[in-house]
Amino acid sequence: MRIAVIGAGHVGLVTGACLAEMGHTAVCVDNDQEKVSALQRGQVGIYEPGLPELVGKHLGTRQLSFTDQIAKGILGSDVVFICVGTPSLSNGAPDMTQVEAVSREIARHLDGYKVVAEKSTVPVNTSARVEKTLRRHAPRGIEFDVASVPEFLREGTAIRDFLHPDRVVLGVQSPRAEALLRRLFEPLGAPVLVTDIPSAEIIKHASNSFLALKISYINAVAALCESVGADVVKVAEGMGLDPRIGRAYLNAGVGYGGSCFPKDVAAFVQMAEETGDNFGLLKEVARINQEQPRRLVKKLRDALWVLRGKTVGVLGLSYKPDTDDLRNAPALEVIALLQEEGAIVQVYDPVAVPAARHLLGESVRYCDDPYAAAQGADALLLITEWSEFRSLDLDRLKQALHLPVFIDGRNLFDPQEMRARGFEYHGTGR
Ligand code: UDX
Repeated sequence: MRIAVIGAGHVGLVTGACLAEMGHTAVCVDNDQEKVSALQRGQVGIYEPGLPELVGKHLGTRQLSFTDQIAKGILGSDVVFICVGTPSLSNGAPDMTQVEAVSREIARHLDGYKVVAEKSTVPVNTSARVEKTLRRHAPRGIEFDVASVPEFLREGTAIRDFLHPDRVVLGVQSPRAEALLRRLFEPLGAPVLVTDIPSAEIIKHASNSFLALKISYINAVAALCESVGADVVKVAEGMGLDPRIGRAYLNAGVGYGGSCFPKDVAAFVQMAEETGDNFGLLKEVARINQEQPRRLVKKLRDALWVLRGKTVGVLGLSYKPDTDDLRNAPALEVIALLQEEGAIVQVYDPVAVPAARHLLGESVRYCDDPYAAAQGADALLLITEWSEFRSLDLDRLKQALHLPVFIDGRNLFDPQEMRARGFEYHGTGR
């Protein structure tokens, strides 16, 4: 099938490359001409393991192409995916400017029956607004259906998540759209759930918000564990053995970040408020999450007494491993708190330093390896659990430190081992 993907950001690019991998022909459209010409040369501007290879492969097979002309994408396509950004407004609601703009542009180029499907995370009933916009601006008599096909991609594993999904959710309004979308996703062999469109839109928000709730729940339990001398990692293991609960997303730590959880939780709260329902539970999820960086800095202050003038090493900047994405990264909040108190900050991250320089400038010292980030420091903070940190030479790390204070924001290390090696080790919830 021929698919148009509008928006060549993280979701759009992964969608286009994976649709090509599935045997379809995908045309990715973006209004950023520089980005389009870079992509046409196979230069992928985002860090996503395996994506550059997949884009390069399908530029070669000519099943994937890029253009800044939306007409080239729409004409002759069977399905159009809307994958443009929906960033958060100050009140937490998503900014729908890009979705509305591309809906008008798509309408003008509709040249026969198509399904126009939203993939971006959008508030419930967005598809009704898209449909109304398409109807208003499309040539008279042109047939189309709108649909909601939410994506469940995690950064760092986006390609695997697309090609091997737990489920494909198809929010449709007609049997014709259902048949077309079923055919499109057939090659995945994944469970397909067909729903009405509002339910599909809610599934995305409800899923992400539930995962965020699990994280804030275990972080609240972690605070209690610290007070009573329990170990939250053991508690999470005990809880996770109950299949009704499941072990995943019960890792206590410095909190969740990224472009999705914070935004989706805020949007879900905002959505509920607009309908007059008070989603207080989710407000508490966000509050607990915002508290985590402060709790970590308080541990450091308790260990060092005064932070002013002290040197603090930070291991990990990205909001999670296997990405260079700093959006809502807890590390940025921790660094801001340290700098507010006059600490000197030196950082190391395997890939996110170039992105960090854009945000932090020269207000921190960038180190080439984790031992340099520990060199002469009065404390070392583990903020992102990059797998390379698991094999750190702990004796060398302790030698480099001025004081052997180690605050583990992701419970990456074993408390007994760290204390046996002479660290003053502080975990999260243990
Ligand atoms: C998430 C959803 O998982 C995905 O389905 C959706 O499409 C987009 O948002 P992503 O944000 O890429 O994906 O990353 P994820 O791996 O889910 O982690 C999100 C945040 O939660 C990270 O900051 C991570 O460090 C944190 N986290 C995750 C925890 O703090 N504890 C956990 O147990 C799991």
